[in-house]
Parts: sequence; C-alpha cells; structure tokens
Amino acid sequence: MTPILLRIVLLAALLSITTASSTNSTTPKRGLTYISTTHSSTDDRIFTTARSPLTWYYNYAYTPSSISLPFAPMIHSASDAQDAISTIESLDVTHVLTFNEPDGSTASGGTNTTPSDAASIWLDAIAPLRLPPYDLFISLPATTGSSQGLTWLSEFNTSCYALNSSGCEFDFVATHWYGDFDGLASWLGQLHALYPNKKIWLTEFAVPAVSATDTLSFMNESLTYLDRLSYVERYGWFGAFRTDDAGAFTGGGVSMFDNSGKLTELGATYLGGEADGFEEGQRSDASVAKCGATTLTVLGLDLIVMMVMEVW
Ligand SMILES: *[C@@H]1O[C@H](CO)[C@@H](O)[C@H](O)[C@H]1NC(C)=O
Ligand SMILES: *[C@@H]1O[C@H](CO)[C@@H](O)[C@H](O)[C@H]1NC(C)=O
Ligand SMILES: *[C@@H]1O[C@H](CO)[C@@H](O)[C@H](O)[C@H]1NC(C)=O
Ligand SMILES: *[C@@H]1O[C@H](CO)[C@@H](O)[C@H](O)[C@H]1NC(C)=O
Repeated sequence: MTPILLRIVLLAALLSITTASSTNSTTPKRGLTYISTTHSSTDDRIFTTARSPLTWYYNYAYTPSSISLPFAPMIHSASDAQDAISTIESLDVTHVLTFNEPDGSTASGGTNTTPSDAASIWLDAIAPLRLPPYDLFISLPATTGSSQGLTWLSEFNTSCYALNSSGCEFDFVATHWYGDFDGLASWLGQLHALYPNKKIWLTEFAVPAVSATDTLSFMNESLTYLDRLSYVERYGWFGAFRTDDAGAFTGGGVSMFDNSGKLTELGATYLGGEADGFEEGQRSDASVAKCGATTLTVLGLDLIVMMVMEVW
C-alpha cells in the first residue's frame, strides 16, 4: 500500500470512529418526568439536544408542553376525564396515564379520590379510550409506592367488578417509588406478582433526602436495573428541576440542575454521562460548544496519526 492510500484508509477508519462516537446510550425506557418551573423553558432544552438519551415525556396533564419528545398524556384526576378525551383524541399518542396518586392527599401532589368514585369514572370515561376509534394503551391509576397504594388498588378492583363483570381493564401499570434501591426492587417485584402480564411504567422515582453520594449511587444502580428488567417499559426520574424548586419531601438532592441551571452530577448521569457528552456543570446553551470541542479532539487525533505516518 502506498503511504497515500494507507493514509486514506486510516482516515476512513477514523471517520467511522467519529461517527460511532456520536451515537448515544439511548434506552427506549428513559424519559422526562416534566415539572413546570420558572426555569423550565431554558433549562429543559438540554433534554432534547442531539445526544440526549431521553425518548419520551409526560407532564401530569393531557395537553403537551413545548418539548420535542414523544408525549404521554395523563388524565390527572377523575374530574378531568370527560374534558381530556376530546384533547387526547386530537394528539398523536399511543399511551395514556391515569389518576396521579389517587391514594395520596392533594397537599402532597395526589388527587385524593375514593376507589369507588375512580371506578365509576373509569368505566364511563376511561374504558372507551381502549376501544375503537381510540385504541389507546391505558395505565392503571398511578398510586404511591406504598401499602396504602396497594390497598387503594385492591379496593378499586373490587369497585370495578361491582360495577362491571369485566372490571376496569387496563394495559399497563404506572407507579411511583421513593426510597432505597432494595425497596424499589421489592416494590416492582410485588407489582409484577400482582400483574404478571403487564408492563410497568415507573413514572416517578428517587431516593429522598440522603447524601449526594448515596443519591448518585441509588441512581446508578437503579438505571442499570431498570434498563435490564424486561417488564419495566418506561421510567422517569424525579426531578427535572433546580435544587431550590424541590419540595421538602425529596429535598434538593434529587435535582438534575443546580440553582444556576447547570447540570448536577445526577443530571449528567441521567443523560448518560460522558459517554453521551454530558457532564456536571453543563448548561443547556453550552451543549453546542461542547460538541464542537469533541470534534476538534477527534480531528487532533487525526493530525497526530498523519504526523506519525510522515515519520514512518
Ligand atoms: C441517539 O439515539 C437515538 C435512538 O437510537 C437516535 O434516534 C438519535 O439520532 C441518536 N443521537 C445521536 C446524536 O446519535
Ligand atoms: C380483582 O377482582 C376480581 C374479582 O373479584 C378478582 O378475580 C381478581 O383477582 C382481582 N384482581 C386483583 C389484581 O386484585
Ligand atoms: C363493561 O366494561 C366494558 C369496557 O371495559 C364495556 O365494553 C362493557 O359494555 C361493560 N359492561 C357492562 C355490563 O356495563
Ligand atoms: C455513577 O456512575 C458514574 C458514571 O458511570 C460514575 O462516574 C460515578 O462515579 C458513579 N457514582 C456512584 C456513586 O456510583
């Protein structure tokens, strides 16, 4: 091979490495549990940059936010159900989440709905969404990750069967988890035992109020686990907001942004970390500059190889 030809072959090889390095660690499961704050419109742009691994979002509502990711509408409370249908009908969506924490108080973000009220509204307004012309996949109400949630689901099931001999049919389970990793694994295991033929969406999860190191290792361990567990279909970390926007229950340690809108180590890890080109301290508006730097590094490597060739 002539030196020139060899150089072309090497350049071609390097170019293919460059292409490979711009792929990302997208998992079809990882999404954005979108929380609207005064900073969302600027901070949230980082979630849709080219190398973001996120593939879907929900925002607790049935109307989308201005985020260019596939949307999963939520019928947040039973009283929303009738109004939601005409909007959901006009959206290009496949899955609908229902009833946010009906077993929880409104003070903690829940919707405090009795199982019997939920069952009657479900059968009137939600059940038709599973049938033509809608043919949507509908979640079981997304309760808290607790024994209170299980009790609510059991009473809901009883109320449903009291009203309809087929009960309230659903397509997938939606749930939340706040606690440590062993608790998460055990909670998912319990739900899987109850609903062995349904996929699970973990639409909020975090470990509240522990040290930064423990929060990060919880996230690391959970992401690996959730990505591998075949019955988990989608998940969304809580929370995609700045430290000061966190509530007292979780504390600021779960935040993906610091108070100046830079990614925390947690935020960078959720976006795939360095493998995807995200690092602690990065802002939404800095991601373009960072891509440029990566390209330059690769070009630099190219030059070094060419220089070695000259010597050779
Ligand atoms: C990241 O992965 C997704 C899914 O495979 C793909 O659609 C997207 O183009 C990828 N982004 C980059 C920059 O490679
Ligand atoms: C729901 O109730 C029906 C009828 O009593 C029962 O057969 C079924 O096992 C219950 N399902 C769950 C998940 O509790
Ligand atoms: C029970 O609910 C299903 C929808 O899930 C509906 O098609 C059916 O007509 C209902 N049956 C009765 C007796 O209300
Ligand atoms: C979490 O994972 C990231 C990247 O894989 C690593 O840099 C970090 O040290 C890990 N942290 C913990 C606490 O496991």
